[in-house]
Amino acid sequence: MRYNESVKIAPSILSADFAALADDIARVEGGEPDQLHVDVMDGRFVPNLTIGPVVVDAIRKRTRLPLDCHLMIVEPERYVGDFVAAGADIVTVHAEATPHLQRLLAQIRQAGARAGVALNPATPPDVLEYVLDDLDLVLVMSVNPGFGGQAFIPSAYDKIRRIKAMLGSRPVELSVDGGVKLEHVRPLAEAGATILVAGSAIFGAADPAAVVREMKQPFAR
Ligand code: DX5
Ligand code: ZN
Repeated sequence: MRYNESVKIAPSILSADFAALADDIARVEGGEPDQLHVDVMDGRFVPNLTIGPVVVDAIRKRTRLPLDCHLMIVEPERYVGDFVAAGADIVTVHAEATPHLQRLLAQIRQAGARAGVALNPATPPDVLEYVLDDLDLVLVMSVNPGFGGQAFIPSAYDKIRRIKAMLGSRPVELSVDGGVKLEHVRPLAEAGATILVAGSAIFGAADPAAVVREMKQPFAR
């Protein structure tokens, strides 16, 4: 058993106050999160609309944290360049949103960002088998994407374990997104997750920075 393990925490700004985004980001930065998670929704891939590159560009000017732009949009290849130009460090696309996943991942890397693949709860990990060397991050969705504040779907644990085994020694982050609360931190880390995304658990709290700090507490693993 190794000690002093902890996971990286990525607050999702979806649950922040969009009319006071810079203030909310500054507040959460006090907890020393590892990156910011930016949810981009188009009303087609998911039944909700959020933000585009203009807002990413504005956020980029207010924080030094790496930005992971989670694209929940159809035809993601049309917008990769815009999000990288706006300041995305990681661009995460859904495997379900493209018939040409390998080409899309290469496009993201070529544009200068790290390439992530998100999987909906019903999508098996097998779709990653032939792109394992083309990606920098896998995002396991533990809710059906579209909204913050939904309940965590426990089948994510098994999927994380399977993907961890598939990745072997590759330097790929394994991230989990949806319904993540304090109680999930340790079991998710034990299953193999290296980054936890949390929206409502962080921004819904009276002191978002304190929740980040608590989630980053080291524990025995
Ligand atoms: C859901 C988004 C998530 C969301 C998570 O479609 O991809 O990033 O913000 O929010 P919580 O943590 O509230 O489930
Ligand atoms: Zn997300």
